[in-house]
Amino acid sequence: MKETKENKTVAPNGEAEQPAWRRDFPIDWEQDNYVARRDFTKFLTLTSFAFVAGQFWIGIKSLFQKQKLPLIKQVTKVNEIKVGESKVFSYPLPEDKCVLVRLDEQNFVAYNQACTHLSCPVIPDPKADCLRCPCHQGLFDLKTGRPMAGPPRRPLPRIQLEIREGQIYAIGVEEQVI
Ligand code: FES
Repeated sequence: MKETKENKTVAPNGEAEQPAWRRDFPIDWEQDNYVARRDFTKFLTLTSFAFVAGQFWIGIKSLFQKQKLPLIKQVTKVNEIKVGESKVFSYPLPEDKCVLVRLDEQNFVAYNQACTHLSCPVIPDPKADCLRCPCHQGLFDLKTGRPMAGPPRRPLPRIQLEIREGQIYAIGVEEQVI
């Protein structure tokens, strides 16, 4: 093999015979920097490539998520819930607990049940026209979901409802701002 900068190996004491440890450490001191620089460049290239690929993946994923049609889910039948009653359901994911309340003969409201303070489940109190959070006495307006008292500062996310042929459907989530 032709001796080049890359493959040159010289015994430290200048002898032709190479000590046994040279088999495990075949790189000379001056080559060491060169290899380290090359490895570092390779590392930087691969890291940059992984970063760019990750950004592309996040971008494409969020594009598809935005294009997804809102999930429509049947909550209950109109005649299965009386005025002043409530029903807990999951929407849009099984772990997203929501609460549906019948305000009067015609009107229903539904909110994500997680309190906007520290996520304790809120409990509707239709007689007092509010939803109560038992953890820190947070209070939300039943008709709008807006915070009225206690630590919560943000309204409850409202579940958009649609009533068709005697069935109540959840058709979307409306993130509310004060
Ligand atoms: S978690 Fe609801 S008031 Fe604190």
